Order: sequence, then C-alpha cells, then structure tokens
Amino acid sequence: MRKIEDVLYLQTKRKKSNPCNVPLIMELRIRPEQESDIDRIAEITKVAFRQHPYSNHPEHLIVHNLRRDQALVLSLVAEIDGELVGHIAFSEVEISDGSMGWFGLGPLAVVPGEQGKGVGSALVRAGLDRLKEQGANGCVLLGEPGYYHRFGFYNDPDLFLAEESQEHFMALSFSNLRARGVVRYHPAFFRSC
Ligand SMILES: CC(C)(COP(=O)(O)OP(=O)(O)OC[C@H]1O[C@@H](n2cnc3c(N)ncnc32)[C@H](O)[C@@H]1OP(=O)(O)O)[C@@H](O)C(=O)NCCC(=O)NCCS
Repeated sequence: MRKIEDVLYLQTKRKKSNPCNVPLIMELRIRPEQESDIDRIAEITKVAFRQHPYSNHPEHLIVHNLRRDQALVLSLVAEIDGELVGHIAFSEVEISDGSMGWFGLGPLAVVPGEQGKGVGSALVRAGLDRLKEQGANGCVLLGEPGYYHRFGFYNDPDLFLAEESQEHFMALSFSNLRARGVVRYHPAFFRSC
C-alpha cells in the first residue's frame, strides 16, 4: 500500500546558510495536505505567482474553491526542515468524448527562495505517480512547455481547451487509451472569489 509521504534527499546549494557554496543534502518531504496547512498553502501560492507574467493572481482562490467544492482530488505539499515550501493541486477534468479518469495539474507553486532546487519536479512526479496508482488515465495542464516537457507532457492535437491557446496546453496519457475533444476544467477555475 502507498505510504503517506515520500522523502527525498536532494543535493543543493542553499545560498543564505551556505556562503561557501558547499553542496548540502536537503531532506524534502512530499505528503498530502492537512487542514493545518491550508493558510500556508494560500500564502505559498500567492507569493509564487506574484511575479508570474501571465497570472491575474487568482491561483490561491482556485485552490480554495476546489477544496470548498470537494474537487481537490489530490493536494500535495513539499516540506523542507518542517517548513512548507511548495504545493501542487490536481482536479478532475471533463473531456467532450466522455473519457474518464483525466485530471488537471495545477496550480503548482514553490516559494521563490526555494525554487530551482528540484522541489517543483518532486511535487509533479509524486502527484503523477499517485494519480497512476489510483488508476487515472491521464493528466493535462496549462503551463510552460520548457518546464513540463521533462515530465513527458506534450501538445496533443486531439485535446484542446475552448478558452486558451494550444501552445501552453499539454497532456500526458498514462495508458494506450486515447482521449479526444474539448477539455473542461472544474468551474472553480473560473470563479474569482
Ligand atoms: C514553476 C515552478 C513551480 C518550478 O518549481 P521549481 O522548484 O523551481 O522547479 P525545479 O527546481 O524542479 O526545476 C527547475 C528547472 O525548471 C526550470 N523552470 C522553472 N520555471 C520555468 C518556466 N517557467 N519555464 C521553463 N523552465 C522553467 C528551471 O530553469 C530549472 O531548469 P534546469 O533543471 O534545466 O536547471 C516554480 O518556479 C514556481 O512556483 N513558479 C511560479 C509559479 C508558476 O509558474 N507555477 C507553474 C504555473 S504552470
């Protein structure tokens, strides 16, 4: 049976505490969110997206609305030295051909001071592993191809979003079952309060 958390040891250079740039091993825990994490998750999401070029900054509200609608299928946090530094959300999407078991990845957020150390990648990989274990058929997302290609996401001409450009919309199928059509995210993505 799946353990509650993944513990990874990443080699990193932590600039503040490590002026000599000696590689340090950091312990990163990836685990499901708990109720006591909720405020910190909102804070992480706000601060991570503050500088994002294409964001109107509603991402913390999306997470909140998904949770309130019980549509937050999977919500994982990343913890370094007992401090939450990252979060990833997954929710189910609808596909116009009736395909089931597809999920939307996002929002994904890592606090600026801990970016570039593998935290985001660990959250994505842990989330995808857990979805697969639960029998999911695939995952979609809106994001930077330069980041998400490394996990196997690609532009699938058979899957598209009605509202957005295709360039940033990517999919990853977990099986040979193909899905085709318009993908709809949960309504929580379109409410701004
Ligand atoms: C995107 C984000 C989650 C990545 O988390 P992270 O912990 O910094 O990522 P990792 O350390 O696992 O990966 C770092 C790598 O991703 C690359 N990367 C990070 N953001 C990227 C982006 N927007 N586009 C392309 N590549 C990106 C880095 O250049 C680095 O590349 P390298 O491995 O070749 O050196 C984090 O930067 C973040 O929270 N950004 C603000 C919110 C955001 O953009 N969320 C995603 C929306 S789709």
